[in-house]
Amino acid sequence: MSSKPTNPPLARRSRRKRIGLIVCAVLVIIVIALAIGLGVGLTRGGSGSTPSAPSSAPTSTVSPLPSPTVQPAWTPTVNSTWQIVLENPLELSSDAASITPDVEVYDIDLFTNGAEVISTLHKLGKKVICYFSAGSYEPDRPDSGDFKDADKGKEMDGWPGEYWLNLNSTNVRNIMTKRVELAAQKGCDAVDPDNVDGYSNNNGLSLTPADSIAFLSFLSNATLTHKLSLGLKNAAAIIDAVLPLVHFSVNEQCAQYAECSNFTAFITHHKPVFHIEYPDAGKKVSTTQVNDYCGAAADAANFSTVIKLTDLDGWVEYCNYAAFTTLLNSS
Ligand SMILES: *[C@@H]1O[C@H](CO)[C@@H](O)[C@H](O)[C@H]1NC(C)=O
Ligand SMILES: *[C@@H]1O[C@H](CO)[C@@H](O)[C@H](O)[C@H]1NC(C)=O
Ligand SMILES: *[C@@H]1O[C@H](CO)[C@@H](O)[C@H](O)[C@H]1NC(C)=O
Ligand SMILES: *[C@@H]1O[C@H](CO)[C@@H](O)[C@H](O)[C@H]1NC(C)=O
Ligand SMILES: *[C@@H]1O[C@H](CO)[C@@H](O)[C@H](O)[C@H]1NC(C)=O
Repeated sequence: MSSKPTNPPLARRSRRKRIGLIVCAVLVIIVIALAIGLGVGLTRGGSGSTPSAPSSAPTSTVSPLPSPTVQPAWTPTVNSTWQIVLENPLELSSDAASITPDVEVYDIDLFTNGAEVISTLHKLGKKVICYFSAGSYEPDRPDSGDFKDADKGKEMDGWPGEYWLNLNSTNVRNIMTKRVELAAQKGCDAVDPDNVDGYSNNNGLSLTPADSIAFLSFLSNATLTHKLSLGLKNAAAIIDAVLPLVHFSVNEQCAQYAECSNFTAFITHHKPVFHIEYPDAGKKVSTTQVNDYCGAAADAANFSTVIKLTDLDGWVEYCNYAAFTTLLNSS
């Protein structure tokens, strides 16, 4: 059994971190422009006086990775109904006759929920996606002590004590292999590995989309060993490459950021998009605002949309305006 963290980490959201990246990119461009304008060579050493030209950004012409030959025991279908709760473990006794809301899929924290919660969800006919952070160090997890300082990059903007991880690190991958094994032992049907998009954040490790693609390839191997389904969290830029490896998307705020069309490839390939919006800075919203995030997002027509508070507690609202609260254990 895993021990409960004393301070359960909040749900991860990449957007706030992305602002830092944009600022950083603008600064880099300004610095390069200034360097060129002043005729300052960016290279050190005396091999000639030619200033190095800024290398053009690599164009994403990644071709899809080959489809694995192994299939998971279960894969979710487009338009599945779901609920996501990460703040606290579910309050669900082993003889529970129902759970609210009565949706098909629950996405819950791998560490804080015991195997009995997952087994009870199964008895109630639910499928279970287990969430863990695959690309960041969190201080309060039972295995946090296994990470090495060398694995860690920059602290995540907005998440004190949490650090980007080097996705190439053998140590990091060994820890993630164990997390996937824990998911299999607990009976999870799928995993939702978060923070696989370090490349779009100020990560301090020079992570690239190629690093994320290689990491998803590693996660695909690790999960298929246990016949678990694998989700892709956000990471729009690598969808084309990894779509054959993943069985669903977990997306945050595509309607808010007008990028739901980037995720429709999942629907075309009969893979659901579990779509979360956090309107109005995480306050509970009016039906008009729900409409903004559901009805107006035509590209998200066949997404499995939930309206949530940013702490991803038990409250949820659906696009038909039905709102529910799942009971949680305090921890
Ligand atoms: C999607 O699911 C909702 C809720 O279960 C249902 O009302 C709707 O008809 C479904 N749409 C499609 C295209 O299957
Ligand atoms: C990860 O490994 C690849 C292949 O060896 C290398 O090209 C890349 O630069 C490495 N990335 C990081 C962040 O170390
Ligand atoms: C995944 O497994 C395949 C087949 O065993 C292997 O060729 C490949 O290198 C593995 N990839 C990673 C990233 O572990
Ligand atoms: C999302 O799609 C738009 C339009 O096709 C494209 O310009 C953009 O680069 C995509 N975003 C990412 C992160 O891939
Ligand atoms: C949603 O699914 C329905 C039923 O399969 C299909 O007719 C429609 O074109 C889809 N809409 C989008 C935007 O993908």
